[in-house]
Amino acid sequence: MSVLAIHAGTIGVTALVVTENGQMESKGYEEFTQHFPQPGWAEHNPEDIWQATLSACATALSGASASPCCIGITNQRETAVLWDRRTLAAPRRAMVWQDRRTSTICTRLREAELDPRVSELTGLRLDPYFTATKLTWLAENDPGLWEGVESGNVALGTVDSYLIARMTSGARHVTDASNASRTLLYGLESGAWEPELCELFGVPESALPEIMPSFGPVGQTDPGAFLGLDLPISGMGGDQQVALFGQTCFDVGDVKCTYGTGSFVLTNTGHEAVRSRSGLLTTVAWQTPSGERTFALEGSIFVTGAAVQWLRDGLGVLGSAAESEALARTVPDSGGLVFVPALTGLGAPHWEPGARGMIAGITRDTTRAHLVRATLEAITYEVRDVVESMGAGHAQVLKADGGASTNDLLMQMQADQLGSPVERPAIQETPALGAAFLAGLGSGMWGSMGELRDTWHLDRRFEPGERDDAGYERWRAAIVLTMAAAR
Ligand code: G3P
Repeated sequence: MSVLAIHAGTIGVTALVVTENGQMESKGYEEFTQHFPQPGWAEHNPEDIWQATLSACATALSGASASPCCIGITNQRETAVLWDRRTLAAPRRAMVWQDRRTSTICTRLREAELDPRVSELTGLRLDPYFTATKLTWLAENDPGLWEGVESGNVALGTVDSYLIARMTSGARHVTDASNASRTLLYGLESGAWEPELCELFGVPESALPEIMPSFGPVGQTDPGAFLGLDLPISGMGGDQQVALFGQTCFDVGDVKCTYGTGSFVLTNTGHEAVRSRSGLLTTVAWQTPSGERTFALEGSIFVTGAAVQWLRDGLGVLGSAAESEALARTVPDSGGLVFVPALTGLGAPHWEPGARGMIAGITRDTTRAHLVRATLEAITYEVRDVVESMGAGHAQVLKADGGASTNDLLMQMQADQLGSPVERPAIQETPALGAAFLAGLGSGMWGSMGELRDTWHLDRRFEPGERDDAGYERWRAAIVLTMAAAR
């Protein structure tokens, strides 16, 4: 037996066929176009995400020995998607989690001193990152479209909701608790859409999806719409929480970091929604069919892998992201160079949407190798800042995954900076693997989370070595300057 797992990420869609012993039998991957129509704006065409999903799934299925028994879906979170309930066509591009255009709306709400109440209800903060202010912006700037939302013709959701609507030909308009907990509209205590927040952000609750558990029956795919498949969807969740699940971080205090476009460090806090005083978010990790929720503390770092992409595409100093390791190894350190990759503002633990990137310490002998090494160092410093915000006792071991976790130098530097081991699993497509785990549990292919632990295998453990404290001090000083420049 096997599961078809879909990870609709920010840059592309990955589809895996995962067998019941937790092995990846086949894989498909398809990227889609990123739109940056103005500085600070980021958009996706929902139809592109759907086509990439069809293509990635078709590739994965063509390499599978048998038809899967169920489907799991995980997704880039917070991104606001709208679609016509009847035709399923998207009337405009989705506003991506990275989009900063709602900074002024957030400032307006903060000036009205609404931040404490919003944080109390949601575990989040007033930042453009989350879904709700994107919807407020649409209501204010696209009134014609918003009329459709209010009249019930246009549905709202995140990427999970949109894909499930497409796969079920509109039969289901759903999300799960982990995705809902990223919108600024979901009450952490109530476990439901919060009328006070819907009112504050001007979002009609009737336009929002039904909130479901993260595993168990969700809906049935329509063969006419989805590759001829008539299969149950039985697992869903936001990709970072699902990666926590895929890393089998089932115990309180377990920590993982997924190194993708950004990096997202999550620690399991069990059934308690722990509040942070040091810039971390409180979020639902997953919800069982009986309604029991597990929570996590999260440090969301917006730009890590995206900084390497910028070196490649923006500066042209790299031919490929994979080259970064070899080039960084040609120098022993960054030669005093420090790079703060605040290219789309700073997320955790600083939360400064107005921050912009900074490179300091350039000399006549600075080379592109130093810049690439400084970029890898910055990633490890950002993750260290977040892990330290989690407090003592966290990250006895950091479980690492995502594209950049294949970079051995980065992983070693990370272990050095944390002063604790970093473990990389055999399957680094952890969000998709986690979606397979959820769906397999939800369909009965696996009987318990204990069984899932047995399928997790280590690829390599990086033990901490000597730590570059001078480099970290330079980083702290540069962060102070970056924050000051933003104000
Ligand atoms: O919160 C944003 C996060 O879900 C993005 O994930 O994997 O697309 O970088 P990813």
